[in-house]
Amino acid sequence: MVLSISGINKSYKKVKNEAVKALDNVSLEIDQGELVAVNGPSGCGKTTLLLIAGGLLYPDQGEVLLDNTNLYDISANERDKKRAEKIGFVFQQFYLVPYINILENILIPSIGSNSYSSSLEKRARSLIGQFNLSHRIHHKPGELSTGERQRVALARALINEPKILFADEPTGNLDDDNAGIVLNYISDFAKEGGAVLLVTHDGRIGKHAHRTYKMKDGSFLSNTLNV
Ligand SMILES: Nc1ncnc2c1ncn2[C@@H]1O[C@H](COP(=O)(O)OP(=O)(O)OP(=O)(O)O)[C@@H](O)[C@H]1O
Ligand SMILES: [Mg+2]
Repeated sequence: MVLSISGINKSYKKVKNEAVKALDNVSLEIDQGELVAVNGPSGCGKTTLLLIAGGLLYPDQGEVLLDNTNLYDISANERDKKRAEKIGFVFQQFYLVPYINILENILIPSIGSNSYSSSLEKRARSLIGQFNLSHRIHHKPGELSTGERQRVALARALINEPKILFADEPTGNLDDDNAGIVLNYISDFAKEGGAVLLVTHDGRIGKHAHRTYKMKDGSFLSNTLNV
């Protein structure tokens, strides 16, 4: 099992006397080659789930096992190392670095993992081509459309060939053609043995996803087996 999370609870600390229970006893497993989708209304806890599963936010309770290592039982440094080696993450708000161009943005994870090489730059250029960004290669994020920035964020998440990809609404800002390209790419990534946890409202993911979980008020309602 690549990812196994169990019994996750998370409340955000009180804002004006009221705590927000964002996740309530969530469990989920993803194996190699599986693409798992989560959808549900705004505020139901999807991003919180992704952040916790991706080693970016401590749960109050529960376990997150990535390749059998409990991500919250190890030091922050070790967790960063695991993330650099094994995790690709596409944030809902992208978080690109504004003052460097898109090629450099995509290569940023190679700095964290000390893996920069000319073949990696070649891979970055190939992702740029596949995601229809070649004509913008020297642009900085502020000089791109939202959908272009979204595709840069995905390319950055994929550059290190992660074992698992977490993506928060990766087609949220894309036109049909580019959404199709991105969904096909993510689906092929899973077919080639990658694991994927995707938050999406995109109905087209149904045909690619192995399971789709519907979330409401911090819990999974049901799970639909698609294949
Ligand atoms: N840092 C925080 N402090 C307090 N409450 C928070 C914080 N972050 C999120 N929340 C609350 O936790 C709940 C879950 O938030 P989350 O971002 O996981 O939702 P979501 O399902 O991703 O929503 P969306 O579809 O709008 O992105 C929401 O009610 C939100 O208001
Ligand atoms: Mg969200």
